[in-house]
Amino acid sequence: MTTKHIACIGAGYVGGPTMAVIAMKCPQYRVTVADTNTSRIAAWLTDALPIYEPGLLEVVQAARGRNLFFTTDIAGAIREAEIIFVSVNTPTKTFGDGAGKAADLQYWEKVAREILREARTDKIVIEKSTLPVKTAQIMETILNAEGGRLHFEVISNPEFLAEGTAVRDLLHPNRVLIGSRETTRGLIARQEIVDIYANWVPAGRIVTSNVWSAELSKLVANAFLAQRISSINSISALCEKTDANIREVAHAVGMDERIGNRFLNASVGFGGSCFKKDILNLVYICESYGLSEIARYWEAVLTMNEYQEQRFVRTMIREMFNTMVGKRIALFGFAFKADTSDTRESPAIYVGRKLLEEKAVVVITDPRALENARLDFAGVDGRIHFAEDPYDAARGAHAVALLTEWELYRSLSWEDIYQSMEKPAFVFDGRNILDHKRLHEIGFNVYPLGAPPLTHFHDRGARRGGSSGY
Ligand code: UDX
Ligand code: ADP
Repeated sequence: MTTKHIACIGAGYVGGPTMAVIAMKCPQYRVTVADTNTSRIAAWLTDALPIYEPGLLEVVQAARGRNLFFTTDIAGAIREAEIIFVSVNTPTKTFGDGAGKAADLQYWEKVAREILREARTDKIVIEKSTLPVKTAQIMETILNAEGGRLHFEVISNPEFLAEGTAVRDLLHPNRVLIGSRETTRGLIARQEIVDIYANWVPAGRIVTSNVWSAELSKLVANAFLAQRISSINSISALCEKTDANIREVAHAVGMDERIGNRFLNASVGFGGSCFKKDILNLVYICESYGLSEIARYWEAVLTMNEYQEQRFVRTMIREMFNTMVGKRIALFGFAFKADTSDTRESPAIYVGRKLLEEKAVVVITDPRALENARLDFAGVDGRIHFAEDPYDAARGAHAVALLTEWELYRSLSWEDIYQSMEKPAFVFDGRNILDHKRLHEIGFNVYPLGAPPLTHFHDRGARRGGSSGY
């Protein structure tokens, strides 16, 4: 059997783990992951991988040097491969037409032109990054610009992995979606990609479609997931005004099999590299087709998320006697979710910035994301500190704001933390994971999300009365 060569351009959160799993599960393929970022590639070659993902190191170690290779030689990787996955970043445009909404496709287009320049044989080019619908068409236009010297078949194979569970999601996906043109060559290329995943994914979970459906499905899946979080977060605000408790409401609502119980955890807001970007993409696409009502409908999911972040900080300020000046606030967790080092679009960034604007002293602790947190606050000095140890972060603080649901925060000695803090001591639980009753018994003034606060003040009811405007 001849060895097939797969290349992946982009060694980030998507490309790295996806290729590691393909290489581990398909020893008959030679997989080369290429990136222009030399330090990232260097890190993939060590056991200090450039991203933190539970179980990833074991998968990489199983295949690295056998049939999994990392390189900065983009041209070489393109030439060798029959199949090229592209998983470069596609951030939201920050300039020009569509700024703040449309996807910035400059990295993608650059890769397409590189493929065209370097290719000496026909290629199957696979969109792995999330892209706006019809990007495949643009890629085809660029790739076939030289009038048929070679044939490029563009396939959409969107990645549904979530960070923190990437390896599990890749090994046991709900579905793998492969979209192609429905021409003879398109269907042959589609089968080539199906054959890769068929090495470990049951046939029933490999779904094929046309290219546009595949591209749109990724945006829609993320929009639906984000919508659930915004929906439950909207109700958390109402619960705080009444005697309802969001955990009880979510439990009761989620037991309806038609609704289901996943993604109903109220939070300080959703973050991550995908939700906001993909919804903005969806909004932009709807607008460009003249569907302004549909655009506004999906935009509201984002508005709700911003409101939730603002609401969280406003509650802190209001409850801490309307001034944060000089107060030390410990942020427990900075990653956008647990089990990742990623801080992209993390609600903690917003919370940290706002507290700094209020002239608080902010101390950030996180078991994996401190390095990224430092980058997020590069250039800000004086009132921002970083602590590996949560006990150090809390010492002398007026408040703890829990922003990432790291398991370790549940099992801390909150008695010790209370003793070391300024009094009155506050806990704002932006993830609703702590035992609020117990914290209150220890002496904290506790502010859960979506439930009445547990304080040692006597005028609490008056403050909740609804006249504050929040
Ligand atoms: C998401 C999609 O889940 C994944 O399928 C897609 O490929 C990429 O985007 P990811 O952003 O890695 O994955 O994480 P996800 O688990 O979806 O969480 C996104 C955000 O929502 C996090 O900030 C998380 O903390 C928050 N969240 C999630 C909640 O606030 N409440 C919940 O109930 C669930
Ligand atoms: P994602 O979460 O989508 O995987 P990342 O930002 O983690 O996004 O990864 C994208 C990777 O793509 C980065 O490591 C970046 O260096 C790489 N990249 C961007 N443009 C190019 C390019 N033209 N050639 C090779 N790699 C690129």
